[in-house]
Amino acid sequence: MEKKTKHSFIKSKYLSNKHINYFDVYDDLFKNFVDKKITFVEVGILNGGSLFMWRDYFGKNARIIGIDLNPASKRFEKEGFEIFIGDQQKPEFWNFFFNKVGNIDILLDDGGHTNEQQTVTTENCIEKINDEGLLVIEDTHTSYMKEFDNPSEKSFVNFSKRNIDCINYRFPSIDELPVSNHLDLEREKRMKKILYDNVFSISFFESIICYKVNKKLAKKNVKVKNQGENLNHKDFRYGNPDKRDTIEELKQALDINE
Ligand SMILES: C[S@@+](CC[C@H](N)C(=O)[O-])C[C@H]1O[C@@H](n2cnc3c(N)ncnc32)[C@H](O)[C@@H]1O
Repeated sequence: MEKKTKHSFIKSKYLSNKHINYFDVYDDLFKNFVDKKITFVEVGILNGGSLFMWRDYFGKNARIIGIDLNPASKRFEKEGFEIFIGDQQKPEFWNFFFNKVGNIDILLDDGGHTNEQQTVTTENCIEKINDEGLLVIEDTHTSYMKEFDNPSEKSFVNFSKRNIDCINYRFPSIDELPVSNHLDLEREKRMKKILYDNVFSISFFESIICYKVNKKLAKKNVKVKNQGENLNHKDFRYGNPDKRDTIEELKQALDINE
């Protein structure tokens, strides 16, 4: 029988707060990782309930790592989890973390949920995720909440919408992407390259955004032809090319005298 994240959530011996719609999204995104030898990281531990949920769901071959600012989270090391105390908003923390841990398969961000925390996490984690791995940021409804200084141009949802443009600009022969003011110039340049080189797709769900990483598939697009017979059919994209009305004919038809 297919495993369900909701069952693992219910079984967890410590408290976890999630939102009911998330379980369908988790099941959809994570099903191919069940019982695999993966490294799964969650930012945001609080009472530890989700650590136990993920261990139950992914199975005993998974390495489950938690990150939190609160040093009390260290208690879960006794239960066999790897715990890191640090600030997701600091690039130096991520440097330290990935130097210790190596590459990972999934990062789920259920940390502080501010624009900057979610954005810095995205900027610093994508390159460290293995091909076919995922960066999943949850509670992105904070992009619409006053207490998180939103709605704003710098919301994480707007940052991620802009990131769609960066992926589309992998298509050759379109002009350079105009500069946005979501990030300062240096960060913007770096983020564009990270997306260009690593991200196969971005999916938007209610309250959750998922970046699918795959360096092999994140490649420049190229036009290709097969060997089939060319019937020389005309392209009617702009109407019948043999019957295109001239401006004069149109003016006459519309009775315009200038
Ligand atoms: C929503 S709770 C996590 C809930 C947990 N994942 C669960 O499902 O039960 C958010 C946690 O993020 C931590 N946090 C907040 N800001 C953070 C930051 N900048 N870096 C790391 N952790 C942070 C908080 O201490 C808190 O424990």
